[in-house]
Amino acid sequence: MKVIIAKDYEEMSDKAFDVMAEVVKNNPKAVLGLATGSTPVGLYKRMIQDHEKNGTSYKNVSTVNLDEYAGLDYSSDQSYVYFMRTNLFDHIDIDLKNTNIENGKAADRAAECERYNKLLETMKQDIQVLGIGSNGHIAFNEPGTPFGSVTHIVDLTESTIKDNSRMFRNVDEVPRQAFTMGLKNIMNAKKILILANGANKARAVYGLVRGDVTEAVPASVLQLHPDCTLVCDEAAAALIK
Ligand code: GLP
Repeated sequence: MKVIIAKDYEEMSDKAFDVMAEVVKNNPKAVLGLATGSTPVGLYKRMIQDHEKNGTSYKNVSTVNLDEYAGLDYSSDQSYVYFMRTNLFDHIDIDLKNTNIENGKAADRAAECERYNKLLETMKQDIQVLGIGSNGHIAFNEPGTPFGSVTHIVDLTESTIKDNSRMFRNVDEVPRQAFTMGLKNIMNAKKILILANGANKARAVYGLVRGDVTEAVPASVLQLHPDCTLVCDEAAAALIK
């Protein structure tokens, strides 16, 4: 795993943008695997600025997102589809038809997982952006998720519900379940770009980079990926330096 330690969030976002820009420049038809959460917002801002200033086009790019809360869709401003529209898609020239995310409101959840897995088989990510949960989760693959997992419905852990409650009015509003790409779908990406900032991610980053490869720390599976780059700030890197 390549590890880049940046001094702060802004520098982390700059370095992440460099990796992303290279992929889009080399392949205007790239498949981008995208993530939500506060961590990649700086990267998305830089993609928007670059699009506005330098005309980098996303017309022929397509995207697959990692996960979505079960029960939420674009009508909820807490949904991940809403997040992607407001933080990125509405500000670049991407065709929304080329953007993909699980349908949180699907009536048949098993069928929705199957649909998404079939789609992913036809759309290998040229790059997959990831954040990391403080308990080492990636997407919504919580500790104990099999490395061979594909898109599935998960029961969120109490720690994730608590961490994510800051985005909601109160903790009771956080959905208890979510759709998520599995670890196998993530590992299928040609390139992985994982970002982490802040002291509350230091333990998870240790598990990602230095810990045993174990299903108890889902992110540790990335040690087995042939092209994975971690960009983190000093605080998140505290235990790996
Ligand atoms: C959520 C998302 C993850 C994300 C994590 C960390 O649980 N499902 O994809 O990596 O939160 O979020 P943040 O970047 O806000 O710390």
